[in-house]
Amino acid sequence: MIMKKKNDCPKSRAMTEEFLDYFPVAHSNMRIKVSAQNYRMFIDHGEGARLYDVDGNEYIDYCISYGPTALGAVHPELSEALVDLIRTQPTSSFFFSEDDIKLGKLIRKNVPNADRIKMAMTGTEAVQVAIRIARAYTGKKMILKFAECFHGWIDNVFGGDYDPSPSGMPVMTVKEDDHSWCPGLSEIAREETLVIPFNDFDILEDTFKNYGHLIAICHFEAVPINGYSIQPKPGFIEKIRELCTKYNVVMSMDEVLTGFRVGPGGAQELFGVKPDLATFGKMFAGGVASAFVAGVDEVMRVLPEQNVLSAGTFNGWPLAQRAAATAIDILTRNDGQLYKDMYAKQEKIMDGIVDLADKYGFKVRITENPGCFYTIFGVEGGRKPVYTFDEIADKSEAQNARFRTLMENNGVLILPENRWLMCFVLTDEDVQWTLEAAEEAMKQMVEEGLA
Ligand SMILES: Cc1ncc(COP(=O)(O)O)c(C=O)c1O
Repeated sequence: MIMKKKNDCPKSRAMTEEFLDYFPVAHSNMRIKVSAQNYRMFIDHGEGARLYDVDGNEYIDYCISYGPTALGAVHPELSEALVDLIRTQPTSSFFFSEDDIKLGKLIRKNVPNADRIKMAMTGTEAVQVAIRIARAYTGKKMILKFAECFHGWIDNVFGGDYDPSPSGMPVMTVKEDDHSWCPGLSEIAREETLVIPFNDFDILEDTFKNYGHLIAICHFEAVPINGYSIQPKPGFIEKIRELCTKYNVVMSMDEVLTGFRVGPGGAQELFGVKPDLATFGKMFAGGVASAFVAGVDEVMRVLPEQNVLSAGTFNGWPLAQRAAATAIDILTRNDGQLYKDMYAKQEKIMDGIVDLADKYGFKVRITENPGCFYTIFGVEGGRKPVYTFDEIADKSEAQNARFRTLMENNGVLILPENRWLMCFVLTDEDVQWTLEAAEEAMKQMVEEGLA
């Protein structure tokens, strides 16, 4: 039974007007786009994977705040644990509690490289902490990153194209037509960063050979989930590992999206490659803001030994520690059954969409990892990995945008570029309604001449 929107969201529209008077942009600029419409979506309440807006419309949520709320809304056990803390403890202090110990144990048990941990508040901050640790460890300065990956909004890693300068050094550039360009960015900060394309073995090797003596850290998403989930070519992550070791560069995996999503041990477990450092954020704390850097002892020891600083009033604050300890426990108990259930549902949705696309005459390509996938209309191939943006250059902007809008009208929220982030508490009924909404959307696209 599909949940057609009952109305055109008059309350959300009116509240958007008032909101914009106080807050001229959204709290996070990226969040502006979450509603497929041009107003902000005001939510009244939620339960599990369902959200209810102030106009009485019901949605199944595959946006999950860009990752954190993977245990859905008002998870009974998590909510209870947080309420218990609020009732009995101060929420911000510089003292410590048993939750710290519980969390440390859980992270170390699940994340292969987590000999030691440093808490932070957001993924953006964790990335900057990793950079600082790597510089202290190597005594070098430069950052190496890949154009397809995202690592937060600080100038030294925000966006960036591969653009070798006349000297051949691929110093980070952000062109004015890049979606990460904005006034106010520091060009000086970019001078410390090299940007190269993901999955290009030759450029990777050349960059290490020519500039390895300058590079402190190679920071990357093992799967650029922020870049259409293109997959690492076989051997690419292993090659990064080999070169980092050879040139004394700290290998740092950005697990802000993959961490606890693609599996309890993140991408490092999925691909079986152990990075020196890894940055985590988003879903491990069940929707409460928190982040951390995990690392092998050999590198993390610079924290105490060299007194590498990362202050932060809210680093490891009690509510986050309680939320994280509870969320990781929920996610990983019963031998990770929640992951198996989530992935079975994801497969059903992905297969269902491929079948529907066949039925209604659409080309669709699905790029996927456990917990996340994109439905890219206009590119054929179904569930087949993609390794470069060129392979999806023919995607149909019109079909993709229309599909997303129609899904929202049919009660299913997905992210821009038709990215789906899986919630771990979806029900079978949610899955069925999702596929019914997709069928309705495709039917309408055919009627509108968009097939
Ligand atoms: C891979 C990755 N790294 C870092 C960040 C930055 O995290 P935050 O938004 O919590 O600062 C993000 C955010 O989307 C991300 O996806």
